[in-house]
Amino acid sequence: MQGGVDRQDLRVEIPPEKFHLIEVITQENVVYEGIKFPQIRNTVDSLNYAQHEFQVRDEDVFNVTYPKSGTTWMQEILTLINSKGDLSQHKLIPSWERVPWVEQTTGRGFLENRPSPRLITSHLQAHLFPKSFFKTKAKVIYTMRNPKDVCVSLYNYCQITKFLECIENFAEFHSVFIKGDVIYGSWFDHVSGWLKMKDQATILLMSYEGMLQDPRGSVLKICKFLGRDLDDAAIDSVVENTSFIKLKNNQMSNYSLLSDEYMHHKKGSFFRKGISGDWKNYFTVAQSEQLDHLFQEKMKDFNLKEKFMWD
Ligand code: A3P
Repeated sequence: MQGGVDRQDLRVEIPPEKFHLIEVITQENVVYEGIKFPQIRNTVDSLNYAQHEFQVRDEDVFNVTYPKSGTTWMQEILTLINSKGDLSQHKLIPSWERVPWVEQTTGRGFLENRPSPRLITSHLQAHLFPKSFFKTKAKVIYTMRNPKDVCVSLYNYCQITKFLECIENFAEFHSVFIKGDVIYGSWFDHVSGWLKMKDQATILLMSYEGMLQDPRGSVLKICKFLGRDLDDAAIDSVVENTSFIKLKNNQMSNYSLLSDEYMHHKKGSFFRKGISGDWKNYFTVAQSEQLDHLFQEKMKDFNLKEKFMWD
């Protein structure tokens, strides 16, 4: 049950395990407003729906990220805050259904008739975000991660999926990432677009590194932002059950439910390392300096390195 509604009511007509019957698995992208989105579960219609038609409600809570910045982690934290630490949904319903992407083809079916408070995920840049959001009291939690680690995580993720453009050579991928010619657009554009709104009371900035360093403090911060008063046992449950190892072993969050048609499961896991600083094992000095240079140029107004402990 979710908010008094039977789980069946939250499903689209075609259950996720049967998506392979209707989806063409391709590494092609769809281009919307000049930005590439993976063709799997993104269409011009679904993106247009998210931006122009989707009706945001005051009670909605959005989990917004550039990919590979801690999206799944936040989906689980929000689920467990919402359930006050109760594990039933977290153990029974896949994350993509509990906290669905508004811009995906499944967004409308999952979200339109769902009772509030709805938990919603998005990888959209701020200027493509649902227009109706800006007229409501709905909240956004925007999670950022060191772009060097994002680059490495995305590179590895592309190697294990069958539905994302795959560049096997890291140097080549790095150069494409730096140019912003990747899915969901440039990391710099994504982050700077959202950071421009950081002082709004309805937006909370989080960092992957901060969550790693202080998981409990991070959960408390999110609860405070959402006005949710959980007792110590519930907070403990949220923190313990959203650790890397717990999520890696939870079928409802680890993407093992996706069939071999979607993933090269033998090549690696969605929950890969879950650390900060892995970029040092991939970047050359020159590649690191190149990204630093761009960072200084594009992010100079935001003082991010000091604030979020990115090195
Ligand atoms: P790595 O590939 O570096 O391991 P997203 O959900 O946005 O796609 O992000 C996935 C990244 O977050 C992966 O990074 C994954 O391992 C990491 N991650 C997910 N849950 C985590 C957790 N509880 N603790 C640390 N890292 C986590």
